[in-house]
Amino acid sequence: MPDEPLVIRDPAAMTAASRAARARGQRVGLVPTMGALHAGHLSLVDYARANSDLLVVSVFVNPMQFNNQGDLDNYPVTWEADFALCAQHRVDVIYAPTVDAMYPEGFQSKVLVEGLTQEMEGEFRPGHFDGVTTVVLKLFAAVRPDMAAFGQKDYQQLKVVERMSQDLDLGVKVIGRPTVREPDGLALSSRNVHLSPDERQRALCLRRALDQARELAAGGETEVAAIEAAAGEVIAQTEGARLDYLAVVHPDSLERLQRLQGPSRMCLAVWLGDTRLIDNDALN
Ligand code: PAF
Repeated sequence: MPDEPLVIRDPAAMTAASRAARARGQRVGLVPTMGALHAGHLSLVDYARANSDLLVVSVFVNPMQFNNQGDLDNYPVTWEADFALCAQHRVDVIYAPTVDAMYPEGFQSKVLVEGLTQEMEGEFRPGHFDGVTTVVLKLFAAVRPDMAAFGQKDYQQLKVVERMSQDLDLGVKVIGRPTVREPDGLALSSRNVHLSPDERQRALCLRRALDQARELAAGGETEVAAIEAAAGEVIAQTEGARLDYLAVVHPDSLERLQRLQGPSRMCLAVWLGDTRLIDNDALN
């Protein structure tokens, strides 16, 4: 039986534990999560385990990043399973602050990253990234990690957090790790539990749209409009699927591209019933 992780709920206690580890010469690694852990999170945990001495997984469903109350209310909470998985994967500390500890009465600060947050998720989920950057900065402040691991499935989030860490001299090495997929290609997401069996099948349209775009790019198509149209058609042809956006962007600046001339990334968000899924992949 592995040692059980220590659960810390208080930001000051978390900082004290991190300081003590650093004083012993240990490297501190952080995997920020909202719980409902799945194999995608666990691949981040395993990576961080191999690259740090004190491994902290934060579990905090952050109300500030939800622009829709129903989405927040329905966000899956699976504390006991999360705890067991953290124990199995040799997590040292689960940092699970309460909402009151994170946002006490009188709280009025916000972290804003500008350009990168304007399009895609930023357009369809107003305020979402202000919530993400604010909470991630607070997690970094409490945990003081040397390194923090994020999934590439939330590609725009990864770029925004990298930017914030660099701009604000946080000294945290932000690592992006590949998306983990089901054998049939569906990207793992805590929201997948909300899909009905039918919607789960139709959700493969995201992967198919990405494959379609990659095939066109591999075949020499360079006009982004043609690629986006063909990928969009895959979604349009899927019964019950509704596209929020589909965009081919530069992988670092996230600016929309007209032509494929160098590295690029296609990102999309699609509704299946009441569930909104996102995915992305490199085109070349
Ligand atoms: O990706 C997530 O689960 C969340 O956005 C994060 C980074 C834990 C911040 O709440």
